[in-house]
Amino acid sequence: MSGRHMDKIKIFVTRKIPEEGLRRIREIFDLEVSSLDRNLTQDEIVDMAAGAQGLVSMANITIDRRFIDRLTDIRIIANYAVGFNNIDIEYAREKDIVVTNTPDVLTEATADIAMALILCVARRIVEGDRLVRKGGFKGWYPSFFLGVELQNKVLGIYGLGRIGKTVAKRAIHFGLKIIYHDIKPLEGEHLDFPAQCVSFDELLKESDFVSIHAPLTKETHHRFTKKEFKRMKNEAYLINAARGPLVKEEDLVQALKDGWIAGAGLDVYEFEPKVHPGLITLDNVVLLPHIGSSATEVRERMSIVVADNLLAFFKGKPPPNRVN
Ligand code: GLV
Ligand code: GLV
Repeated sequence: MSGRHMDKIKIFVTRKIPEEGLRRIREIFDLEVSSLDRNLTQDEIVDMAAGAQGLVSMANITIDRRFIDRLTDIRIIANYAVGFNNIDIEYAREKDIVVTNTPDVLTEATADIAMALILCVARRIVEGDRLVRKGGFKGWYPSFFLGVELQNKVLGIYGLGRIGKTVAKRAIHFGLKIIYHDIKPLEGEHLDFPAQCVSFDELLKESDFVSIHAPLTKETHHRFTKKEFKRMKNEAYLINAARGPLVKEEDLVQALKDGWIAGAGLDVYEFEPKVHPGLITLDNVVLLPHIGSSATEVRERMSIVVADNLLAFFKGKPPPNRVN
């Protein structure tokens, strides 16, 4: 057998991603995509990825120390997500494994979902739909189904990165005033929209909507607990389209039940895909199934970003979206 095929680097993709990216990978590499319609276990990945040097992983696959130790041939993990809290990137680095993510291509779509959640909770959109379907719409009257308007309300953005900024720009068009808090000092950075930098405490106290756009790290884990919900306005709403564990979900349920805050719009959960049963029964929450980047075009672009990172890496160039 000629060495040509033998020399091909093997890439293992843990779950089917759009063809746009797969095609690019297949042109150069020996591509293997899991044929199973479910998330793989760590054992299955170790098995199926044997001999692969590149691994394409999903945000809901935990790649911790123990698992990394078992991925003996892997040199690059391309996460099919912008978030990479599922991977121990420090340990990967120690093991000389490069980790990449898929930023930028999903910024607008994720900002759309945050904006949609703000609109849904403020104007009780999903609750209204449920009411109509149940035959509960008996006619218009002045005090019927009141929500709150967005004009002149304060949107507090926790984490003013790419997605946070894009949410701010959308929200400004709805008349919201923007304040923000970021754990990294952003002074000196020029913002091309009006927004005021505040302390975390001010963010909690002054916002009518607090929207979370920070990555999940050791520092941001459980950043929102009882203490924070008690500091928020009783009329305020919490929006989370980032990562569930930034919020202690049990405390959020209590805050919602006891009226410490007015409602919540969530796309992510602390113990995904499980949702706290206390949330399910509440009318003042909107619950989405982690669809921030779920748009056909976005998922196609994410697959291309994954391919670009793999191609760059194996050509000996710096992968454009290396995170470690
Ligand atoms: C999705 O949650 C992502 O991080 O891309
Ligand atoms: C509402 O339907 C209005 O006409 O004001």
